[in-house]
Formats: sequence, C-alpha cells, structure tokens
Amino acid sequence: MERTFLMVKPDAVQRNLIGEIVSRFERKGFKLVGAKFMKITNELAETHYQEHKGKPFFDNLVSFITSGPVFAMVWEGKEVITTARKMMGKTNPQEAETGTIRGDFGLVTHRNVIHGSDSEQSAKREISIFFQENELIEYKKTVDDWLA
Ligand code: PPS
Repeated sequence: MERTFLMVKPDAVQRNLIGEIVSRFERKGFKLVGAKFMKITNELAETHYQEHKGKPFFDNLVSFITSGPVFAMVWEGKEVITTARKMMGKTNPQEAETGTIRGDFGLVTHRNVIHGSDSEQSAKREISIFFQENELIEYKKTVDDWLA
C-alpha cells in the first residue's frame, strides 16, 4: 500500500492546528502508520530540503522549519501521495482553493501550514530520513474493508 510523508509545520503547531489537520486525513480514509512530535535540526532540514539548496528562499525555509516543533507523520492508503497533495492545496495559500488545508488556514508561502511528499521517490526518501523502520506500525483497521 502507498505511503506518504506529511508534516504539520511550525506555524500550524503554534496555531493549534495539529488536530484539525490529522482529522482531515483520518476522515478521508487514510491510515496513520507513524507520527513524531519533534524539533528539526539544521542538518535534518538541509537534508530534507536538499533539492532546493541554492534557491533564493532556501535559508528562509530552513530557518522557518527549525523555528519550532513540527508534527511529522507517515500516512498510508490508496493513492495517498497525490490525494494528500490535493487536500493540502497549492504551495502559495493565496492560490490554494478554499476547502484545502492551505486554502483554509494559510496566508503566505513562507508559512504554508503543511508539507507533503510530491512523488513516490520523495515519499520514500523523506520517510526514511524522519523515521526508523520500527517506528512505522503495521496494523489492520476494520474500516479499511469499507473503503475500496
Ligand atoms: S520550486 O522552486 O518550485 O521547486 O519550489 P516550491 O516547490 O514552490 O517550494 C519548495 C519548498 O519551499 C517552500 N517555499 C518557500 N519557503 C519560504 N519562502 C519562500 N519564498 C518559499 N517559496 C517556496 C515551499 O513551501 C516548499 O516547501 P514544502 O515544505 O515542500 O511545502
């Protein structure tokens, strides 16, 4: 089953949005298989965002993501990577549709509430840098029988 890496960013943690965001993915039908409330180090931030190194916003991005605790998660389900991105909305909250997480809760790109993997390859990479294999829980939910 497909997995993705999602992270409630420091702005959303400060604004008490963890529960709201987790709830949206739960209600959609996805399964939480790992979660961690943590403070990201500079080193981890630079590894996580390595593909953006050299871009004008890179330093801001690293200092934002390390500025306070985040809630890092792994979610599982049918086409969870693409669907989670749709649920998040566009990177710039001003362009994100109402009904999406960024559209409903964000105002500016540099505080855009949530991160989500954008491909199968980045999901695998991001999950592996944030989680050990034994921190991801395999379990059955009876509700899964009613989803697909
Ligand atoms: S790019 O250049 O199109 O690949 O960049 P993009 O996918 O739009 O954004 C990559 C991540 O950088 C964040 N971002 C910014 N942070 C701070 N300031 C500015 N100006 C800025 N522009 C983009 C953006 O939210 C992406 O982070 P994640 O965590 O992946 O959402």
